[in-house]
Amino acid sequence: MATDRQKRVWDEAAPRYDRQIAFLERHWFVGAREWVCARAQGRVLEVAIGTGRNLPFYRPGTTITGIELSTEMLAVARTRAAELGRAADLREGDAHRLPFEDGSFDTVVCVLSLCTITDPARAIGEMKRVLVPGGTLLLADHIRSSFGPLRVAQRLAEQVTIRTAGEHFTRRQLPLVQAQGFEIVETERLKAGTVERIRARKP
Ligand SMILES: C[S@@+](CC[C@H](N)C(=O)[O-])C[C@H]1O[C@@H](n2cnc3c(N)ncnc32)[C@H](O)[C@@H]1O
Repeated sequence: MATDRQKRVWDEAAPRYDRQIAFLERHWFVGAREWVCARAQGRVLEVAIGTGRNLPFYRPGTTITGIELSTEMLAVARTRAAELGRAADLREGDAHRLPFEDGSFDTVVCVLSLCTITDPARAIGEMKRVLVPGGTLLLADHIRSSFGPLRVAQRLAEQVTIRTAGEHFTRRQLPLVQAQGFEIVETERLKAGTVERIRARKP
């Protein structure tokens, strides 16, 4: 379950988030939002939608629902949706217990958030539950590097970041997705193996 502390951390981060992540999007997560959103179709649920930075990239014809832990992040997402003229159902919610019926969505998206969600295996299980059979899971996140020295640096960094912000650098979502019984359709691993994009299908 998400904690009050996590919510507070992200509420406090909200005013600075867009500026900080824009830098990382230019140098580290290049093209991740475009990659994910080009593959999303139909009824789309974005889990931990944050400030809604994927909203400009979803294709016309998709209907967007977003859930997010932080009230302040969500407030920025609502403003963004209004400025874009993009209808979106944006709600507070916890990725560990999605407030939707089984089989409610054609696509579930989660970007840069399974690195911080307390129990990523449980969250991925929830994403599977709310997908229709044949539905698509789309993930993009930073993960543990395939390059040893960088992995050591990541382990050191997360000694601090897990405690202060719940941010993990040595997780990897692919085995969790496989363990949930998804069929892996497409993966890309970039930037010394620190970034991974996954497209998977619920059987
Ligand atoms: C690094 S931000 C990423 C935001 C957005 N997905 C993006 O691509 O910019 C991580 C987000 O995960 C949210 N989050 C963390 N734990 C969560 C949970 N259990 N349920 C829903 N959202 C959560 C945080 O509030 C924060 O907005």
